[in-house]
Amino acid sequence: MHSLQGKKILLAMSGGIAAFKVAELARSLIQEGAEVQVAMSEAATQFMTPVTMQALTGKPVYVSQWDARIPNNMAHIELSRQADVILIAPASADLMAKISLGLADDLISTICLAKECPLIVVPAMNKQMWDHPATQRNIAQLEKDSVTVLGPTSGSQACGENGMGRMLEAHQILEGVISFFQAKVLKGKKVLITAGPTYEAIDPVRGMTNKSSGKMGFALAQAALEAGAEVHLIVGPCHLDTPLEFTGKIRRTDITSAEEMHSAVMNDLNFDVFLSVAAVADWRIKNISTQKIKKVAGDSDLPPKLEFELNPDILASVAKLSVNNKKPYCVGFAAETNDLERHAAEKRFNKNIPMLVANIGPETFGLDENELLVVEEKGNQRFARSNKLDLSRQLISLISTKI
Ligand code: C5P
Repeated sequence: MHSLQGKKILLAMSGGIAAFKVAELARSLIQEGAEVQVAMSEAATQFMTPVTMQALTGKPVYVSQWDARIPNNMAHIELSRQADVILIAPASADLMAKISLGLADDLISTICLAKECPLIVVPAMNKQMWDHPATQRNIAQLEKDSVTVLGPTSGSQACGENGMGRMLEAHQILEGVISFFQAKVLKGKKVLITAGPTYEAIDPVRGMTNKSSGKMGFALAQAALEAGAEVHLIVGPCHLDTPLEFTGKIRRTDITSAEEMHSAVMNDLNFDVFLSVAAVADWRIKNISTQKIKKVAGDSDLPPKLEFELNPDILASVAKLSVNNKKPYCVGFAAETNDLERHAAEKRFNKNIPMLVANIGPETFGLDENELLVVEEKGNQRFARSNKLDLSRQLISLISTKI
């Protein structure tokens, strides 16, 4: 997949030890189809050489605003006009301070003032520098000025300390750039997503659940956010973290049982699209024991008698609702063991929803890849095997045409 085919990226490096990760980043951007032009500050050349970056990108690297190789001697105008995006990695505290103030006293800061294209910064610095009120003020100003900030993250730092300020890894920055370029087809829309399994208690230490890793729901949350939507993710017990870059941007509610998931959905009746990805338990135990059920030894050792009752069908109830005088666009998901097409069509019809997405086997639980059958009234279409984020982007794009 060449997700950045034809994109022109001006990769600007300021001084910081994290510059070593940018060699890998430049390679992966190019592998995704981007054209990468590197500019470096004087300080950046202390950490990586222009020769390294030129060899990796196949283009001359610019360090000085007085570089005579640019015919009109206006490197800042020439370089910024050629770019679809300027990506500053690593972005030092000093460079971000300059940009937030609109200073222009070297090549990169001048490019940033002269630019017409969007700007992404990837901060990298010592934790004290990151936590400093001046840096926080500058970051807030950059965000106000529509600059996209990727990271930083927390962890061990080159200086030997541990904390916030560590630059994201090359693959995370690449993901952030790919996300950035996704079409904003759900701008202004609110999307509610349920993900993961639910857990129905039998007693305080036992319960029953469904097989679901939550990966597809999380991938859809990411794809919806990238498409410009406001996302609320209601999650059953699973071990996934909200993707790092999106922490704080996706509203997340953690629940345990189907009844709790139902209440969380009904408490948020303010969405345009409902993606019911969760594997919700159809039944719960009626007679939940408040104490651990004891196994009795001997002849009288009989299994306990569990009574079941029906859980609410969350998707079917939402499909009956009007939200803000409009029916939300509801999408169901299904994993079947047999007669996939027939069951999927019946499920879509019975739940009275416009779209049902079925997993095409074999077993997809917990894997990063899937193959999908999308069932609508007018017919079915297949989404070929791909990773779940890629499939989610295709689904979001399709759904955006329906609302
Ligand atoms: O479990 P089943 O295959 O019928 O699930 C189909 C769809 O219905 C899924 O989208 C699931 O999230 C939803 N569902 C629900 N509430 C239930 C059972 C299923 O919302 N109690």
